[in-house]
Amino acid sequence: MRPGQGAAGPRPAADTCPRAQSVTNPAPRGPVRHWLALRAGGVALGAAIAGSAPGAEIVFPNALNGKPMETALRPGEPETAALKEFKSTGVNGYVGDAAAITQGKALYEQWCQVCHNADASGKMGPSLRGPTFVYPQTATDVGMFAVMYGGAFGAMQAFSRREITQDEMLKVIAYVRSLK
Ligand code: HEC
Repeated sequence: MRPGQGAAGPRPAADTCPRAQSVTNPAPRGPVRHWLALRAGGVALGAAIAGSAPGAEIVFPNALNGKPMETALRPGEPETAALKEFKSTGVNGYVGDAAAITQGKALYEQWCQVCHNADASGKMGPSLRGPTFVYPQTATDVGMFAVMYGGAFGAMQAFSRREITQDEMLKVIAYVRSLK
């Protein structure tokens, strides 16, 4: 045996040591997030989570009947990172994002402003700026998404049937929320 080489052979450098890596890697987030949601939301949310598939715990209620809606993507429709995050956490990552808000403004002008006014203060459709709403669910991004996706009464049609993607709906919401 040569000097400096122990019975166990050369020692691995610190940065290749598997134990060191497992310490620096972030813990898996899914179960932790579920646990936090359970703690924060109490029994009702806990039951909703328990009864649904992993990653599908956010419920989108139809404004007309309160029933949960399926929000399956259309063939070829992109599931962006923001949309995936929104559907698993309810957080719209585009809120406060300047680039997304600019895109949301253009989409709003194309699809919404004719009825809700350029500044969303309301025209033949109600104001989208709150703080009070026709449907209390509109106060949250999940609820506003559900109204847009599934429609409401009269002229407020379901945009799930129009040429606007779910990701674009999140950008429209980001724009509307920026108007406060
Ligand atoms: C053709 C007219 C029309 C268009 C276009 C339209 N809306 Fe509406 N919207 C309405 C009407 C009318 C209502 C009220 C429906 C009701 O009372 O059930 C409404 C209601 C809503 C509500 C519920 C507001 C509340 O106070 O709870 C939201 C949110 C909403 N619209 C978002 C949008 C968005 C976003 C777009 C564009 C993607 C859009 N709407 C396009 C007419 C329209």
